[in-house]
Amino acid sequence: MSESNTGIESSMQENRLFSPPAGFAEKAWISSREQYETMYRQSIDEPEVFWGNAANELHWFEKWTTVLDWKVPDARWFVGAKTNMAYNCLDHQIAQGRGNKTAILYEGEPLQSDGQPQLRHITFAQLRDDVGRFANGLKKLGVKKGDRVTIYLPMIPEAAVAMLACARIGASHSVIFGGFSSQAIVDRVADAKSTIIITADGGNRRGQVVPLKANVDEALKSTDLVRKVIILKHTGNAVGWTEGRDVAWSDVIAGQSTDCLAEPMDSEDPLFVLYTSGSTGKPKGIVHTTGGYMVGTYLTSKYVFDLHENDVYWCTADVGWITGHSYVVYGPLANGATTVMYEGAPNHPDFSRFWAMVERHKVSVFYTAPTAIRAFMKAGRELVDKHDLSSLRLLGSVGEPINPEAWMWYREVIGHDKCPIVDTWWQTETGMIMITPLAGVTPTKPGTATLPFFGVDAAIVDRDGTELGPNQGGLLVIRKPWPSMLRGIFNDPDRYVKQYWSDVPGVYFTGDGARRDGDGYFWIMGRVDDVINVSGHRLGTAEIESALVSHDSVAEAAVVGMPHEMKGQGIAAFVVLKTGKLPSEELKKALMGVVTKSIGALARPDQIRFTETLPKTRSGKIMRRLLKEVASGNEIKGDTTTLEDFSVLAKLKEKDEG
Ligand code: PRX
Repeated sequence: MSESNTGIESSMQENRLFSPPAGFAEKAWISSREQYETMYRQSIDEPEVFWGNAANELHWFEKWTTVLDWKVPDARWFVGAKTNMAYNCLDHQIAQGRGNKTAILYEGEPLQSDGQPQLRHITFAQLRDDVGRFANGLKKLGVKKGDRVTIYLPMIPEAAVAMLACARIGASHSVIFGGFSSQAIVDRVADAKSTIIITADGGNRRGQVVPLKANVDEALKSTDLVRKVIILKHTGNAVGWTEGRDVAWSDVIAGQSTDCLAEPMDSEDPLFVLYTSGSTGKPKGIVHTTGGYMVGTYLTSKYVFDLHENDVYWCTADVGWITGHSYVVYGPLANGATTVMYEGAPNHPDFSRFWAMVERHKVSVFYTAPTAIRAFMKAGRELVDKHDLSSLRLLGSVGEPINPEAWMWYREVIGHDKCPIVDTWWQTETGMIMITPLAGVTPTKPGTATLPFFGVDAAIVDRDGTELGPNQGGLLVIRKPWPSMLRGIFNDPDRYVKQYWSDVPGVYFTGDGARRDGDGYFWIMGRVDDVINVSGHRLGTAEIESALVSHDSVAEAAVVGMPHEMKGQGIAAFVVLKTGKLPSEELKKALMGVVTKSIGALARPDQIRFTETLPKTRSGKIMRRLLKEVASGNEIKGDTTTLEDFSVLAKLKEKDEG
């Protein structure tokens, strides 16, 4: 932990309170405050009864002997049970009469000659067949239960097919966000020891083709772990081909049966690994297992989004993030919902695209990120107002604190004052939504994720684990296990303990600072470690620093977050050059290019500042707090007596003013 979390001050005051819209509760799963309180009490006092009941709404090949086996920090949920996530998302839905219902509603980005986008409506029955065929194809390529399969695809139905096919045969998928570069692929493939990559020729983004296959080819120059690359023909651009290694998706499925046995997975068998940034350079492979993750994402999707049979549900996240895993693919499909997948940018051809889509598909539940909302605000409400958004009944937000101004705009301009907003707090590690309003019953305030979901024992504590009083800023911890909690960091049990279970004794530390107000509502104040949240995505400063230092002109680099109007946080990089190297605009551009190439455009610094040396403590730790203040243009305050070189700060300030 950094020095910054010893005392967290909060100056935010927000007194506006919005009751759930009249009539919403009547048709909602959770329809009264009393029902919520009774269920919440049971979920905390008798978690085994509560979660056992929830699990009974799903399909199991064999039931559990014990709901929970818990010894800090290792949880086992639904011990001894056998199930299959893909079976629950497909066969179990078909068995309930949803075979002809649309499971995935896909819209492509390019507009065709008639001005309309490409659409695909894939029913649960078709999806089951597609998954079965592809799963059989994977088996034929030698993929077995327990293997890790890397998926690097655009936001297209085949991404869900690939994930579900892995789940069906018991292989763990490791999805890499399509915006990540080849270096990110190398690191993740190597850590996961993955021998198969599933990709496409390209993906569509803002009128351009993202060269996914070329990125994979570049990555595979640095590792020989991968024996097969499966390539889906999607954008039709030319790609290189390595004989013996590369195989077309169409050849993988050719001649395969649509029937593929859903492997009876032990509840604690892994379902997937997903890499996320931590405060050291190496991304962490967060491991989620089968039964608990399934129950957690199922129940939160049902209650938080209040999913009903006729809903058209759209979560705008990419499948490369946990939100895409839990709330584009698994949670909604396990509820038999229609889930929308859009491959493309929110501003193509302009910022009205999302609202045109809401109108076109009569989207009823819409879940997006504050960064997107701020971009829409900036583009202007005219782009929204020309569309009929009357189908919307519930709005959601995720990824970072939503500033009250954006919350109000979301409510008024998108929700026309009639849609409740659920601001959902959770993490890659938690697998499911943890703190959230329930739309029919929780009065909301702009900027707070409000109250814990069922079974979630969240608290604000100091470093010793002592619970703090109302409005005292502290560390956000979870004191009881929950079904979809991470089961570890892939191949690194020590880091799991150190990262989450060591800062505060006996409880899960989220890495976030927060406070609870007088009503018990949680206000997230941001991360307390060296992790920056850019557009709702966590980026480790160390990873960006090591990219910068890989350039031959750079001796040292320090990266910090700074306030950014659109992205929540932007990235400022302080760079010390090697002797004899001179600062220049070209060098700045080159350094930005290095970061884009090694991590992806998301991590590209917004500012690069050259400096002769970095402010450090006597023990050699970079004083990020000072750099943050410089980057955000604040006066430097606080204790500087441990600075190694007092001249450094003055020099940084001079540059700032110059
Ligand atoms: O700091 C919190 C912030 O995003 C972090 C989790 O990032 P990631 O694992 O990438 O998952 C993002 C999507 C779940 C958290 O530790 N965060 C997420 N949602 C919120 C939030 N901060 C405030 N309010 C939220 N609703």
